[in-house]
This record gives sequence, C-alpha cells and structure tokens, in this order.
Amino acid sequence: MSIALVILAAGKGTRMQSDLPKVLHKVADAPLLVHAMKSGEALEPSRIIVVAGHGADLVAKAAQDWQPAAQIVLQEEQLGTGHAVDQARDALADFDGDVIVLYGDTPFIRPETLETMIKARASNDVVVLGFEAADPGRYGRLVMEGQTLDKIIEYKDATDEERLITLCNSGVICASRDTLFDLLTAVDNANSSGEYYLTDIIGLARSRGLSATAVTCAEVETMGINSRTELAMAEATFQSRMRAEALEIGVGLTAPDTVHFSHDTVLGRDATVEQFVVFGPGVTVESGARIRAFSHLEGCHVSQGASVGPYARLRPGAYLAENVHVGNFVEIKNAILDEGAKAGHLTYLGDAHIGAGTNIGAGTITCNYDGVMKHRTEVGRDAFIGSNTMLVAPVRVGNSALTASGSVITMDVPDTALALARAKQVNKPGLATKLFDKLKSIKAKKG
Ligand code: UD1
Ligand code: CA
Repeated sequence: MSIALVILAAGKGTRMQSDLPKVLHKVADAPLLVHAMKSGEALEPSRIIVVAGHGADLVAKAAQDWQPAAQIVLQEEQLGTGHAVDQARDALADFDGDVIVLYGDTPFIRPETLETMIKARASNDVVVLGFEAADPGRYGRLVMEGQTLDKIIEYKDATDEERLITLCNSGVICASRDTLFDLLTAVDNANSSGEYYLTDIIGLARSRGLSATAVTCAEVETMGINSRTELAMAEATFQSRMRAEALEIGVGLTAPDTVHFSHDTVLGRDATVEQFVVFGPGVTVESGARIRAFSHLEGCHVSQGASVGPYARLRPGAYLAENVHVGNFVEIKNAILDEGAKAGHLTYLGDAHIGAGTNIGAGTITCNYDGVMKHRTEVGRDAFIGSNTMLVAPVRVGNSALTASGSVITMDVPDTALALARAKQVNKPGLATKLFDKLKSIKAKKG
C-alpha cells in the first residue's frame, strides 16, 4: 500500500509572538516541521505534501531543504483543518493509497505509532490517533462505542457530558485517498468556530456505514507547540529522550543534563561525553571517542579513539580520523586530520589537510582567507609545526618537515626540510640593565 503524508503547516502561530512561522521554530536544531516530516518518513511515503500558508516561501524552503521531493500546496486563508487537507486534493488526484494527516507543529509522534495506525487501517476505513489526556482542556474528544469511533466532537461544540471524556484527538488521521476526499466534500462550517473541521469526517464516515477506530499513544507524543513556553518544554522533552537513548545504547554521559543534542546526533557505544557539550546538527562520534567538557561540535565526524577538548570547537567539515587529539581552545573547520595527528592547544585549522602523526604546535594558525577567497593548507604526515606558526595558504608543508616556532610560512616546505621564517635573534650584552637605568632616571627627573 503506498502512503502519502499531508502535513498541515499553514497556521500563523500567533501565540509564539514571532515573525517566524510557527512550524519553523526549532527543537534540537531542526524546525518543528522537519520533526513531523521525519516521523512520517519512517513509513516510506511515496508523496509528501506540505500545506503552507503563513510564511509559505520560508516553510516551502525548510520542507524542501530537508526533503527535496516534498510538494507544497497553498492554503491562502486558514478556514480550518478540513479545508487545509482539502488543499491537497488536486496534488493527490493521481494517487492511489492511504493518506496520513500530520500537524507541522506536533513534532514527537513516533514512527512506531504511525505503523500501528497503518495496521489498524487494514480493517478500518478511517483510523484516528488518540491519547488519554491528563488535562483534556480544549482538545477534540473521541466518542467511542467499544472499539468503534463514532465521532470526534470539538471542545467548543461539546456538551458538558462529552467534555468529561478524557480520550482526545491528536489530529493524526489515516484513510484512503478516495475515502478522505469524498468525506471532505461533505464537511461544512456549521459549528461554533465557523471552520471546516477535519474531525467531522468521522461522523460522516459512520453515517455512511464506514468503519472508524482509534489507536492510542502516550500523551507526550501528541504534544503540540503553540507558545514559546511549550517550545521550551518540547526542547526539554526531546533532550531528555535523546539522553536516555544515548545512555541506553552505551554512551557514557558524565552529566547527562548538561549535554545538548541535535535531532541527528549519532554517538557510538562507549563514546564518552563530558559535562556541558553542545552538539549542533550533523555530528557523528564513533565508539570509544571522548568529547571533553565545554566543547562545541557541528557538522563533523570524530573517529574511534580520538579525543576532543576541553573547550574545543569543531565546525562543519571537521573530520578527525582515529586517535586524533584536539585539545583546548582549538577550532577546526573544513579540515581533515589523519590518524594520530595532534593539535593540543590554541590553534585554528581551516580548509586544511593534516597528515597522519603530525604535531601542530600551540598557537598555529592557517591563514586561509585573504579577504576575498579561501585557500587550502596541506601538511604531510609526521611533520612538526612549531608553536605559533602562521601557515599562509595556499601552502604545503611536506612529510616529516619541521617549521620553526614563530615562522610565517608563505612558501611550500619540501619533505624533511626545516623551514625558518622569522627574524634572526641578536643578543646585546648588558643592554637590558642599561636600558632600565636610563628609563628610571627619566622617571626620577620628571618627579
Ligand atoms: C485540532 C483538532 C482537535 C485536536 C487538536 C490536537 C480539528 C477541527 N480539531 O484542534 O480535535 O484535539 O487539533 O492538537 O481538527 N491548520 C492549517 N490550516 C487551517 C487550520 C489549521 O494549516 O486552516 C493547521 C495549524 O497550523 C496546526 C494544525 O492545523 O498545525 C491544527 O490546527 P489548530 O487550529 O491548532 O487546531 P486545534 O484547534 O488545536
Ligand atoms: Ca492546536
């Protein structure tokens, strides 16, 4: 059975108090919309349709940056969830299969939950995802009769008795394309909000003799984000989930609560992460590597046995091979460090390739930017870059070569050569004493 995802993302999210459309606010460095897309993608959908409205261009860009095949349809006026889904009618005209509706502001639905819904679809025309709410508040209520879902009643339209129901609607719905759009044709806006409710399709389905049921999941999965407070709570929820998963697979976290994960952070078994480490997007750390306290990593790879920090910064394109050591106050961007290379202290390596076993002395900097263009630095294997070397790119230092401390290297250094590129030292006997005596007498005269 092929599957189409329809993700509703047209709302403004007024309560966010933000110029950014609500679904583009981030949890663990990814827009809420991307989280919703990721949940759905586990079902290997053949179509992904995002219904955009407020900030449609930005929403379209975020959706397609994540999944270029995502199709965007516009809902110019937000007339309700039923109306929103109906905007996908034309885009799905040639689609034969099941449609799953997700909300772009609901980031935590687990793929397994959607799989359970798909299974239930095999014996039901419409399947809704519900949850037992600790505080049902203003959620739509699921009116069940045994295993059958009879209707969904929105809070505003519910009787006092219906409001006592604690089984609530998450918003996720699954039906075949034909059933969904047939039913939507019959949805009107004769309700207390004057909106076209997607939820009305259940009552309509039942009145036509179709079957409907509800699958349930934990309430945290259905958490929808409407305000900055909820966004912060969602971040906290997500972080604790990531930490728990990392510990579960054997990652050592010295102080789990102080580590920030990104939605796509990958850490191997027996990797160790010390206190206050931040993982931005796109980080993989192999098993046995150690990320020491107060380090900041994004878009990088750390191999087995490597150690990073404390206080290191790995930026996009940093690739550390096995047993590389990167120490404190070292920044690495778009650079490969081959096996066993070391940069222990106070260094910037950008647009560079450092050979295996090479030692980069403290204070070394690749001068990779001339104000207009970026240039590359190549350092061979087993080289020794003396402290405070400026490597003015483009430049190459050969295998087993050595640069003297304080050198400004502007020309290539051949293999095994020693490069000395600093002013020659001269010592003037006794001159220090003479100089100080002179300065002291000037000061005394001035009073
Ligand atoms: C909806 C459900 C309610 C459920 C709740 C769960 C309906 C009628 N009600 O209510 O049963 O308990 O979600 O959170 O479906 N959207 C559009 N275009 C529109 C309207 C909404 O794209 O015209 C999007 C919103 O951006 C949002 C989602 O659909 O992402 C849900 O809309 P919202 O208005 O928040 O629905 P609720 O009133 O919360
Ligand atoms: Ca809502």
